[in-house]
Amino acid sequence: MIPTTMRAAVLAAPGRFELRQVPVPEIADDEVLVRVSRCGLCGTDIHIFKGHYSADRLPLIPGHEFSGHVVRTGAAARDVALGTAVTADINVGCGRCFYCRKNEVLNCPTMAQIGIHVDGALAEYVKVPASHLVAIPRSTPVEMGALVEPVSCIVRAVKKSRLRLGESVLILGGGPIGNLHLQLARAVGAAPVIVSEPNPGRADWARRSGADIVVSDPSQLAATVREATEGRGADLVIESVGLPVLYEQAFELVRPGGRVLAFGLTDADAQARYHPFKVVLGEIGLQGSVAGMGDDMREAMTLIAHDRVRLAEFAETVYPLARIAEAMDAFVNDRRINKIQIDMG
Ligand SMILES: NC(=O)c1ccc[n+]([C@@H]2O[C@H](COP(=O)([O-])OP(=O)(O)OC[C@H]3O[C@@H](n4cnc5c(N)ncnc54)[C@H](O)[C@@H]3O)[C@@H](O)[C@H]2O)c1
Ligand SMILES: [Zn+2]
Ligand SMILES: [Zn+2]
Repeated sequence: MIPTTMRAAVLAAPGRFELRQVPVPEIADDEVLVRVSRCGLCGTDIHIFKGHYSADRLPLIPGHEFSGHVVRTGAAARDVALGTAVTADINVGCGRCFYCRKNEVLNCPTMAQIGIHVDGALAEYVKVPASHLVAIPRSTPVEMGALVEPVSCIVRAVKKSRLRLGESVLILGGGPIGNLHLQLARAVGAAPVIVSEPNPGRADWARRSGADIVVSDPSQLAATVREATEGRGADLVIESVGLPVLYEQAFELVRPGGRVLAFGLTDADAQARYHPFKVVLGEIGLQGSVAGMGDDMREAMTLIAHDRVRLAEFAETVYPLARIAEAMDAFVNDRRINKIQIDMG
C-alpha cells in the first residue's frame, strides 16, 4: 500500500533542512514512482545547501544519487515490472532537440535535473520518467545503485578525454571524484596514474585505490610528474578540484600533444589564463566533461555490476533520513568523511 504522504528532507532555505510530511509525487503516464532505498550526498548538494546553486528553486527536495524499487507505473510505462531495483539518469531533456539526440542533454533548453532543479530523492519516494530508469542487476546490492550516477560522470569523462591504454595521467585532487577518476584510469589501462592530493587521509585513499604515484607536497608535483614521464609531462591532466590556479597548472604539467580535461567546478565567474602560443605549438587539447547521462549511466552500472570499481568506502558512512541536518553538517565540516549516503529505511 503506497501512502498519500511521505517523509522528505526539504531544503526550505539555504542552510536549513526541514523534515516534512509532504504529498507522495503524482506520476504522469510516462513516469514511474520509485520507493527510495539510498541516496548519496555529493559536492553539488553542498552547493545547493549553501545557496550557491539552485537557490531560485527552494523549497526543494535535493538528492540525485539514488536507488530504490519501482512501486507504481504510469499508463504508458506498464512494461516496467513493479519491484524492479533501479537507479535513474537524472538529466531530463525534451528528448527531441539537437542536444538530446546527441546525448548532450545538459544543453537542452528545457533540461531539468532530478534533485537539482526539481524534487529529488531525499525522500521516501521520487518520480522518474520510465525512459530514464537504469535497472540494477539482482547480483548488485541496491545501495550500490546509488553510486551509478557519480561513476557515470567519470565514464563520460574517460570517453571525452579519449584516455587510452598506456597513457600517463595526472589527476589534480583525490576527493571522491578524483578517486573515481583514478580507478577508471586504471581500468582503461592508463599508466602511470599520478594523483596530487594535499589531504593525508585522501592521499592514503588514493594509494589504497591503486595510484602509482601520490604527491601530497605541491612543491614536488612538477618534478615528480617530469620524472615519471621521461621529462615530457602527462598525456592527460584532469582538474578534479575546481580551482582556477589548478587549471593554469594543468597546462604546465601536460605534455606537448597532450590533453587537459576540465572537470572540477569553479565559481561561475572564475577565469583562468592559458598561453595560446604554447597551446598552438604544443597542439594541446582542452576538453570539458559534465555529468553522466544516457549510455554513460548504463555503462557505469555495468562496471559496478562487474566489480571494476571499488566502492566500499563510498557506502560506509550512512545516516537515516531523520538525521539529514547532522549528515550534511558532517559532510561539510569533517574532512575525514569521503562520502555520505542517506538510508530511507
Ligand atoms: N564535471 C562533472 O561532471 C563533475 C561531476 C561531479 C563533481 N564535479 C566536480 O569535481 C570536483 C571534485 O569533486 P569531489 O567531490 O571529489 O570534491 P572534494 O572537494 O571532496 O575533493 C577535492 C579534493 O581536492 C583536494 N585539493 C584541494 N586543493 C588541492 C590542490 N591545490 N591540489 C590538489 N588537490 C587539492 C582536496 O583536499 C580534496 O580532497 C568538484 O569541483 C566537483 O564540483 C564535476
Ligand atoms: Zn552528485
Ligand atoms: Zn532537448
